[in-house]
Amino acid sequence: MLLERGHILTDSPDEADVVLFNTCSVRKHAEDRAISNIGTLKRLKEKRPETIIGVVGCMAKAYKEKLLEKLPHVDFICGPANIYEIPEILEKINGRRQPLVAVDKENRPEIKNIAYHKKGVSAFVTIMEGCDNFCSYCIVPYVRGKEISRPSEEILKEVKCLAENGYKEVTLLGQNVNSYNGNGFVSLLDKVNKIVGIERIRFITSHPKDADEALFNAMRDLSKVCEHLHLPLQSGSDKILKSMNRGYTPNEFLKKVDLLRKYVSDCAITTDIIVGYPGETGHDFEATKELMEKIEFDSAFIFKYSPRPPARSSELKDDVPKQVKEERNQILLDLQERISSKKEREFLGCETEVLIEDRCRKDKGKLIGRNKQNIKVVLNGEDEMIGKLTRVEAKGIRGHTLIGGLVLSLFLFCAQLSSEAIAANIDKYFVNGEYENAVLEARRLLSSEPKEADKIYYILGMSLNKLGKYESARGNLQLLLKMYPRSDYAPLAQLAIGDGYYLSGDYRNASESYERYIAKYPKSEGAAIAYFRLAKCTQREGRWQTARNYYQKVKREYPLSFEAQLAAQALSEEILYFTVQVGSFSKKANALKLCDELTKKDYDASILKSKSSRGDFYKVRVGRLDRREDAEELAKRLQAEGLPTSILP
Ligand code: 5AD
Ligand code: SF4
Repeated sequence: MLLERGHILTDSPDEADVVLFNTCSVRKHAEDRAISNIGTLKRLKEKRPETIIGVVGCMAKAYKEKLLEKLPHVDFICGPANIYEIPEILEKINGRRQPLVAVDKENRPEIKNIAYHKKGVSAFVTIMEGCDNFCSYCIVPYVRGKEISRPSEEILKEVKCLAENGYKEVTLLGQNVNSYNGNGFVSLLDKVNKIVGIERIRFITSHPKDADEALFNAMRDLSKVCEHLHLPLQSGSDKILKSMNRGYTPNEFLKKVDLLRKYVSDCAITTDIIVGYPGETGHDFEATKELMEKIEFDSAFIFKYSPRPPARSSELKDDVPKQVKEERNQILLDLQERISSKKEREFLGCETEVLIEDRCRKDKGKLIGRNKQNIKVVLNGEDEMIGKLTRVEAKGIRGHTLIGGLVLSLFLFCAQLSSEAIAANIDKYFVNGEYENAVLEARRLLSSEPKEADKIYYILGMSLNKLGKYESARGNLQLLLKMYPRSDYAPLAQLAIGDGYYLSGDYRNASESYERYIAKYPKSEGAAIAYFRLAKCTQREGRWQTARNYYQKVKREYPLSFEAQLAAQALSEEILYFTVQVGSFSKKANALKLCDELTKKDYDASILKSKSSRGDFYKVRVGRLDRREDAEELAKRLQAEGLPTSILP
């Protein structure tokens, strides 16, 4: 609104003509901090009395004029439903002494034609205001009024406008999105899912009593909806949940989680917990702890209860002593920390899709984004990647952030494939990732001696590779090489044979295939790819110096290739190290158990998922060390723990 009227943004209050504080009343702590932050501007106001200071949001609505007693230097206060009056307020204030108070409205009027002036990747879109749930601890229904859903046309218009401005992700916002327009949320999701340009959809917050099978079904079927659900549990005690007026029992919550995981097995589930609610006994607290252990949320916000008049629980005695609240808070924080890091480590060694959002604030040399499960990922890369979905291999973890590297792409030739017309739909199947269909179609076509048999063999081989049927893929690709040695697809087939070996973990044969490619087609465009993959193979085999040499060769001799970028990245990362493997399990749970035990003993343990022809394996590895001697030392310590060890590069 203000940018529309010619205002510009500044980072520094000292430069600003207008300073607005947006406030939250949900917890006492947030309010205390707001009061203290607004208080610090008193000096600025004395120095430059013409600076206009405004307090917006729920604190304005909750305290009205009373706020001015604590903060006499404030020029206006404005409730959440009155915010569209801010431009007018600013005009009125000019030169006026008396503070203005605009808090009369209960619900925010619909606003049309929102214009976006800031570019970005991810945006929030409000779909509803207010809340009718009256959870007994919560002030929201009192400050945000009753629940009102925005018309879906307005929401869709806003999302389209964001897409036109280059935004790729929207988070639909509401206190209880699952009751949008009665039960219209799934239908809204479906409509947003169709908006071209938007790649990802998130939503927050869901109330457990209203999150149902229809939602889980939509989360599974709508391609853009992220695998993440924020589902506030608040407490694991039946008694406390009743007193909180939450409308579900711990058991019902657990059943919902099970159902969701049945529909969307890789869904991240996050939550909010309150400790120290009136009447919470040690027994009630244990119930919460046990439920958290059982469910294993991916992350959780833990809050210490504070009474929020006029919310109903403020009439109950706040009887859990401060110190007990503090202790319970700490216990749950520690528990969740353990669970979260275990869950995050499950991504190690796996591919994950990241929407790159920006340069990393802490390290400008890196990019930062999030995967669908809402975990942060940093990686090296160029500015052009901002706003793009990228497949990344999680190579490490720092705090709660994954460290990613770009994945070797088998899609390299898709553009080339789809640009050529072919009688059947086979390349469409391939490009769309429908590999089973591509295989069926290829086999059907090949049975009738088609014109472009070489190409069909190639797509067949690539599709089989994608399906993990490496031997069958190899057979078809070798047939292609034998029958059509001069075909344009012959070099590609040679690379694809190498890829099949590579993907099945047979780096020796993969290297040989790539070497054969280089020997046969030394001047071809694909040589950079072959050298790069050779580097990856040798790296996986632990032949680091050779790997480095190959990476350097790609960088030096094919500076304009995409692989040169990847090679530079590989060289800049410290991905070459010694580690000690202490087990390899076909059951993930067993790997996690061992990994957890080691982490508790302060070992730097992680799990690497690897695929083999016999299925997935979960390898538990400890340490990342520069020198073999250090790895041997570590191996000895692990042996003393009774673990079998092998040192790996
Ligand atoms: N005390 C502590 N935490 C609260 N929350 C809401 N009200 C209170 C309160 N009075 C927490 C809830 C909610 C989150 C946004 O804030 O866990 O889900
Ligand atoms: Fe507050 Fe409950 Fe409404 Fe959430 S659902 S905003 S906790 S009243």
